[in-house]
Amino acid sequence: MGVLLSKLQYTSAAGQVAQGQITKNWVPIKEEPVYTPRRIRLICVGAGFSGLTLAHKIKHEIKLGEVIDYVIYEKNHDVGGTWLQNRYPGVACDVPAHAYTFLFEPNPNWSQFYAPGSEIQEYIKNTVRKWNLDDRIEFNSCVVESRWDEAAGKWKVKINQNGIIKEDEAEILVSASGCLAKPRVPNIQGMSDFKGKLSHTADWDDTYDWKNKRVAVIGNGASGIQTVTAMHSTSSKLVNYVRNPCWISPNFSGELTKDGNNFAFTEEEKRQFREDRKAFFEFRKRLENSVNGFCYAMLRDHPFNRETRVTSTKRMQNVIENIPDPSIAARMIPEFHPGCRRLTPGHGYLEAFTNPNTHMCWEPIERITETGIKTTDGKENTFDIIVCATGFETTYIPQWTLVGRNNTTLTEKWKTEPEAFFAVHVDGLPNYFMIMGPNFVVAHGSLLAGISFTCDYILKWARKIATEDIKSIDVKKDALDDYNVWAQEYLKRTAWSDPCRSWYKNGKTSGQITAPYAGTTSHFKRCLENMGGEHFNINYNSLNRFRFLGNGQVDVERNGMGDLAEYFVEGLW
Ligand SMILES: Cc1cc2nc3c(=O)[nH]c(=O)nc-3n(C[C@H](O)[C@H](O)[C@H](O)COP(=O)(O)OP(=O)(O)OC[C@H]3O[C@@H](n4cnc5c(N)ncnc54)[C@H](O)[C@@H]3O)c2cc1C
Ligand SMILES: NC(=O)c1ccc[n+]([C@@H]2O[C@H](COP(=O)([O-])OP(=O)(O)OC[C@H]3O[C@@H](n4cnc5c(N)ncnc54)[C@H](OP(=O)(O)O)[C@@H]3O)[C@@H](O)[C@H]2O)c1
Repeated sequence: MGVLLSKLQYTSAAGQVAQGQITKNWVPIKEEPVYTPRRIRLICVGAGFSGLTLAHKIKHEIKLGEVIDYVIYEKNHDVGGTWLQNRYPGVACDVPAHAYTFLFEPNPNWSQFYAPGSEIQEYIKNTVRKWNLDDRIEFNSCVVESRWDEAAGKWKVKINQNGIIKEDEAEILVSASGCLAKPRVPNIQGMSDFKGKLSHTADWDDTYDWKNKRVAVIGNGASGIQTVTAMHSTSSKLVNYVRNPCWISPNFSGELTKDGNNFAFTEEEKRQFREDRKAFFEFRKRLENSVNGFCYAMLRDHPFNRETRVTSTKRMQNVIENIPDPSIAARMIPEFHPGCRRLTPGHGYLEAFTNPNTHMCWEPIERITETGIKTTDGKENTFDIIVCATGFETTYIPQWTLVGRNNTTLTEKWKTEPEAFFAVHVDGLPNYFMIMGPNFVVAHGSLLAGISFTCDYILKWARKIATEDIKSIDVKKDALDDYNVWAQEYLKRTAWSDPCRSWYKNGKTSGQITAPYAGTTSHFKRCLENMGGEHFNINYNSLNRFRFLGNGQVDVERNGMGDLAEYFVEGLW
């Protein structure tokens, strides 16, 4: 007996199992072929472009319906996210519409080169109808809490549905909840005193008739610029309150328009797009190339950036010389590199100030009064409506209570700045995936392509989790740290690192760049496609990571009765 024991002590675990022993990593054979998926559940938060792209991939493109049981919770009554919520006058896509479509649903019928917001929302809804993407969406369903249950390997999620709390659980939680989704109402003294109409661009009251009214617009970001451009000519007076200069660039991809400006496609052009698929593809490819050039224009020393400065300065000066207000000429052209604040083409914005009823006010706002806005120089302007074009909360902390492994929260982790791994993962949040997380391709050109690549990547993990008996994965902290150090070093060479306040730096003037990705859209895609498992902690459902190897067969072999040479493919050998 003594001899047998000592022999076993010096035998490997495999050797012990061979001798009929049970070791701590012993598991019985799983009587199924290798990579047999278990059905897993996925909860997605949000039904904008991101959530809908994910749904399309699961249902149609990658066809994972057998493996993934999914649901999308959406707090709004409808799909669309950004495009449902932003209905302010003038809201539009300032990148060419043909480069702002779901990759799977090119749209030959865009009415104009740059499409209005309402048309984008209509396009989203048509796409949802065509592909039946809303059968798993629960609307009016606000996710209020998600907690990681380590023992179960699941997220326990609470959803507020018209005041009733529903509980759900899933192996995978995807946040497609947007990074420009929570309007930021400015903290200006006296806001609640105002007796007129107070509005935010992302929370517009369609029933309010703003024509012939006295209008204040606070902010000159992309939303403020579009609002001023659309409202000034029909307002009795408009004042735009601004704090910082911004570049008004020529139209994006203007070289592919007829004269640099927006134009309507003719019925003949739309017919050609519909009927000549090759030519349509080539047109879209040209546009995709053009918009992806933005990323190079964001490099401080790149010729595209220099060119943007030259053309924007020229264009701005040409308009400014016709504006009677000298403060605009003195203050409007920035010193920082174009792109530091999100570049805004804003055709018609500066021109608005040639209108005698339209003014730009640089004086800081002291307070809002019952009737208007008082500035620090003691002057008060009266208004019927104050439009806050003041942007969004850009902390990336989700709008619900999210608690991961060992009570990890993003509120704590990201109390200074958000740091993610390739915009998708955070350590301590197992099986939690973000679409459009921190440092995503938000200012690079084709944003919807970036969303599509992220969905592919997430679903690759979902398939791996389902087929390799995985309980959870989360990124290793040191991998996340290394990645972010590299990213911030790269980002120093971009315009975003200049001193200017921008949501790209989480509303700060200097410091960490939190929104844009450190590379091009194609760089992002390539990195996601080649992501190595070595950067992740992986926990399994059993004591042996290889339980999924199963009964030693692949599925098509069917216990010897099927195809026993699946690798022998006609034309290959
Ligand atoms: C005015 C405006 C114009 C823009 N124009 C462009 C452009 O021209 N080109 C470009 O590339 N990008 C543009 N963007 C960026 C735009 O946000 C993205 O292109 C894209 O629409 C983001 O889609 P999304 O699905 O990731 O997020 P969103 O569209 O923000 O959708 C997120 C969804 O999540 C839901 N949600 C959030 N929290 C919860 C919760 N707790 N429970 C349930 N549901 C929740 C929201 O209700 C929303 O429907 C613009 C943004 C704005 C604000
Ligand atoms: N493609 C499009 O056509 C389009 C259109 C709209 C929006 N977007 C996207 O949405 C992003 C956000 O755009 P946004 O314009 O809504 O927000 P934003 O770029 O964050 O701009 C907010 C504006 O409000 C001002 N502001 C904020 N708080 C203020 C206060 N208390 N007092 C005075 N001014 C205040 C800011 O001034 P400071 O700069 O001085 O802080 C800034 O001018 C864009 O960058 C873009 O990515 C795109």
